[in-house]
Amino acid sequence: GKNILGLEYFSPEEIELVLDTAKEMKNIIHRDIKKLPTLRGKSVVTLFYEPSTRTRTSFELAGKYLSADVVNITSSTSSIVKGESLRDTLLTLEDMGVDAIIMRHSAEGAAEYATKVVSPVIINAGDGAHAHPSQGLLNLFTIRQHKGTLKGLKVAIIGDILHSRVARSDIWGMRKMGIEVHLAGPKTLLPRYLAEEPGIFVHDRVEDAIKDADVINVLRIQLERMKSGLFPSLREYARIFGLNKERLALAKKDVLILHPGPMNKGVEISPEIAYGLNSAIQDQVQNGVAVRMALLTLTLTGGKDNEITD
Ligand code: CP
Repeated sequence: GKNILGLEYFSPEEIELVLDTAKEMKNIIHRDIKKLPTLRGKSVVTLFYEPSTRTRTSFELAGKYLSADVVNITSSTSSIVKGESLRDTLLTLEDMGVDAIIMRHSAEGAAEYATKVVSPVIINAGDGAHAHPSQGLLNLFTIRQHKGTLKGLKVAIIGDILHSRVARSDIWGMRKMGIEVHLAGPKTLLPRYLAEEPGIFVHDRVEDAIKDADVINVLRIQLERMKSGLFPSLREYARIFGLNKERLALAKKDVLILHPGPMNKGVEISPEIAYGLNSAIQDQVQNGVAVRMALLTLTLTGGKDNEITD
């Protein structure tokens, strides 16, 4: 199949193929010809059970730039409100003949489940704390854009690792591309078992993770997933783990700052760093459209270059 469920199922060559295809897409949309005939006659649905600004909009724009017909479904304005199950919702979309379903859901494995129920291409746009593969790929794209290479880089991932599907997709993708990953965050939000994998290091102090880093990927504190609130408090979090100027100085001089968005500015990242010279946060958003154009092209069109498998 040609589903995109998580970067654990990608080979390094497949990741390279997506990044190279995204680069071609980026060159095209930057020439201001934002319309390719590639997906003419294809229909794409975004099915989002959780809120989104970046992912949903960039998949929609990506589909439209490729001439697909794109329809958006959000749970609050659909028959999901009337209690329709995920299975019946998927079957309904399949009956309408859609070619791809881009799905975000709070349950881990929801996208994989969809591949068992219906035949359209399924692209996981976030399933609980499991995976957010298009975000992992756009992060790799942004790093390669600025650093020229991926292999041998040192990346620090800071914050709420426990709830972060972005962190999981980052870790899979980065390890496959030969990047060394250093994790730091509150003990309650940092699963220790991650350090059992080669090339992954878990630090008690955020300073130790940041030291000599080529890239710092700051994660959003996901308060909506913390049933008993954040420990420590937001203010304590900012003091002990927040990325500020003093901590930034420990990294390499040309360190690249990433954040998937949306940001809690003043908590996990200070505003001057979010909008500062080292920040590639706006590049991430811009690259997200090109990377999603690549994913739609590679999953929805044939041809010998299309080797993405699940
Ligand atoms: N990074 C990301 O997934 O953002 P959205 O939730 O706005 O899509």
